[in-house]
Amino acid sequence: MDKFVIQGQRLLRGTLRVSGSKNTALPLMAAALLANGTTSIRNVPSLRDIKTFSYVLRISGAKVQHMPEDDRLEIDASAVDFPEAPYELVKKMRASFYMLGALLGRCGRARVSLPGGCAWGPRPVDLHLKGMEAFGATIELDGGYVIARTPRGGLPGGSFTMEPSSVGATVNLALAAVTARGVSRIENAAREPDVVEFCRTLQQMGAKIDGIGTTTLEIEGVDALEPVTVNNCPDRIELGTYMIAAALAGSREEPLRITGGNPAHLGEAFANAFKQTGTRVEANADGLLVHRPDTLQPVSITTGVYPGFPTDLQAQWTVLMTQADGPSSVRDTIYTDRFKHIPELNRMGVNARVEQNTVHIDGNQPVKAAQVMSTDLRASVSLVLAGLIAKGETHVLRVYHLDRGYESLERKLSDAGAQVRREAYDEFAAPDPQEV
Ligand code: UD1
Repeated sequence: MDKFVIQGQRLLRGTLRVSGSKNTALPLMAAALLANGTTSIRNVPSLRDIKTFSYVLRISGAKVQHMPEDDRLEIDASAVDFPEAPYELVKKMRASFYMLGALLGRCGRARVSLPGGCAWGPRPVDLHLKGMEAFGATIELDGGYVIARTPRGGLPGGSFTMEPSSVGATVNLALAAVTARGVSRIENAAREPDVVEFCRTLQQMGAKIDGIGTTTLEIEGVDALEPVTVNNCPDRIELGTYMIAAALAGSREEPLRITGGNPAHLGEAFANAFKQTGTRVEANADGLLVHRPDTLQPVSITTGVYPGFPTDLQAQWTVLMTQADGPSSVRDTIYTDRFKHIPELNRMGVNARVEQNTVHIDGNQPVKAAQVMSTDLRASVSLVLAGLIAKGETHVLRVYHLDRGYESLERKLSDAGAQVRREAYDEFAAPDPQEV
């Protein structure tokens, strides 16, 4: 396994570049299955999740070629004839469940493994299944798999109201509905930028969708979609993570430049909270210049659906708030028990306590280096951020979680002045008896 070894308290200077969005690339890849031909997606990051989903697509018969040298992915979906997504892959990455909508839309049937739990608790897929049924699919559960079928002649379409709003269910239902026989309506649909970009791509492929960017999507089925060449948007969570890194560990003399991101995709709540910390952001044609303030103001946040504060940035925000000039809190209303990073941060001397769905954080805290364990993607990047400001050498174990969603993180941070290196280690090696 790999770990990151971080020498803390080195200031970030220069430039950090944001890669293509993971959470947009995945639905675009699923959409490619609906077109008989080759769809080309540009600005695709080289990440473990993209690799995993490429395997999933190949099982269905699609030919997938990733050209990391120019961030391009080509998906030839001329011969999609095996409508299955196996447990071995779905358990590795929940977004593989997008195969349910994609295969139902393309083949009229799908056998897709249920994803099961995730590192920070249960993540149900009930809305995906109820929505498919509302659109006229039959759903059966058998041996941990969902078996879905459209009636003869295709999916009739229908109306479905989501409660709560779900990114994944919106994507899955749209994938099934764009080639339905009739009209489908999704109420309380997600309008995260990932979903908006995905719906626009479906439109470019010939889908008929009204209400993109609102909470009501109306989709009139068409016979088939056409393959396209599409530019993936930048990763908004990577951008938010780097903005937090700049406010936390940037040089006060020289702003950190962040290129390639789209700040509008972070939503109003993040922008407002970030501003309230006293961190100044200048936008120019080149990207963003983030000026680390002399004193960081404490700002409490509550996560919400877009344009609310993204749940995928709450762990990073917690680390930022350890350096604020006073106490603050972080409340997650989307995933109410997504706090696996807190005990690890406690091991670094951070005083943060979880009460129900809220973390209470003391400000002005020195952070000390330690060996800490990654538990999931965003939790692990919060440990890296803590390592950047810690006194001493931090070891962040199991960085395979980070590799799912941050492209070349150690190289990007090192190029910007941090000291981060990747090292292989044997997690099950017996401890040195001298040290016990
Ligand atoms: C996506 C993102 C993930 C992000 C999350 C919330 C991808 C690949 N992943 O995950 O990074 O943290 O959005 O912004 O894009 N829910 C149900 N029933 C369902 C589906 C969801 O109750 O069938 C609930 C969830 O438990 C959660 C809320 O809806 O409380 C939102 O989850 P959802 O938007 O579906 O998250 P994902 O699409 O899995």
